[in-house]
Amino acid sequence: MTFRPSNSNEYALGSAEAEQERPIRQAAWLTAHTERFFRRAGIRTGQRVLDLGSGVGDVSLIAAGLVGPSGEVVGAERDTQAVARATARMHDLGLKQVRFTKTDVADLSTEKPFDAAVGRYILMFLRDPVAVLRDVARNVKPGGVIAFQEPCWKSFLQACEPLPLWRAGAALMVETFHRTGTNTRMGAELSSAFLSAGLPEPETQTDTLVGAERWMADVLQSLAPRAQALEISFSAVGDLSTLYPRLVEEAAFRRVAAPLPAMVGAWVQKPAT
Ligand SMILES: C[S@@+](CC[C@H](N)C(=O)[O-])C[C@H]1O[C@@H](n2cnc3c(N)ncnc32)[C@H](O)[C@@H]1O
Repeated sequence: MTFRPSNSNEYALGSAEAEQERPIRQAAWLTAHTERFFRRAGIRTGQRVLDLGSGVGDVSLIAAGLVGPSGEVVGAERDTQAVARATARMHDLGLKQVRFTKTDVADLSTEKPFDAAVGRYILMFLRDPVAVLRDVARNVKPGGVIAFQEPCWKSFLQACEPLPLWRAGAALMVETFHRTGTNTRMGAELSSAFLSAGLPEPETQTDTLVGAERWMADVLQSLAPRAQALEISFSAVGDLSTLYPRLVEEAAFRRVAAPLPAMVGAWVQKPAT
């Protein structure tokens, strides 16, 4: 199969209402991993944290808990509807230390430097993640923390091999993501991206994720409009509205846990000079 990466860094998953619910459901099984990662990277009370590609606010929410009321979290997000939803969620939770700005992370302006810059599932969508990491480093104080979590699909694709429906769904996700310029191997490339951005070699950790049978069905639903525009047929997985129970059934029949992409975290302290 030949993939033609797009020149743009469009967001393949779109911004429909369902795409706002998907990350909130996803957060239920990701939050503990990200919180542990942020603690290990050095996110703590009183810090001022920049969250890149903040979506509907789930990573900012974790950072807000760690920095507390004396800290500040700024979410940078390109999608207007996601910014509005994230702002409403923080208001409902009474979290005054969090705000969101409608910003393309490829155009970060330098403001008062942050104690930390973080992101989850954002570099994979960018045409030039190294350039963004370079800008991020400029926006972080010397000694500050730069910490990102991105997926690596290698083990996931291997785990899908013996499961025909999972394998078909994974192939469609890979094709749609690749043709919209999304890098499903970003996790494995994090260390070299940090180094290319002039940062020191980062510490890394890889988390194996479990417990989200619904993830593939949700992602395919969000990708469907882009796939249709690219004339990628989803017929190999049948009716999307019944895909979730069919995936669960296939995994249960083969007595395997639902496969998920691993999540790689990389973090570094910006050198003092
Ligand atoms: C997969 S979601 C992750 C959201 C959040 N970080 C989380 O883990 O729940 C990626 C988010 O990045 C945003 N995004 C993609 N490209 C962007 C860009 N160039 N600038 C700002 N936001 C961007 C999308 O709109 C989307 O909300």
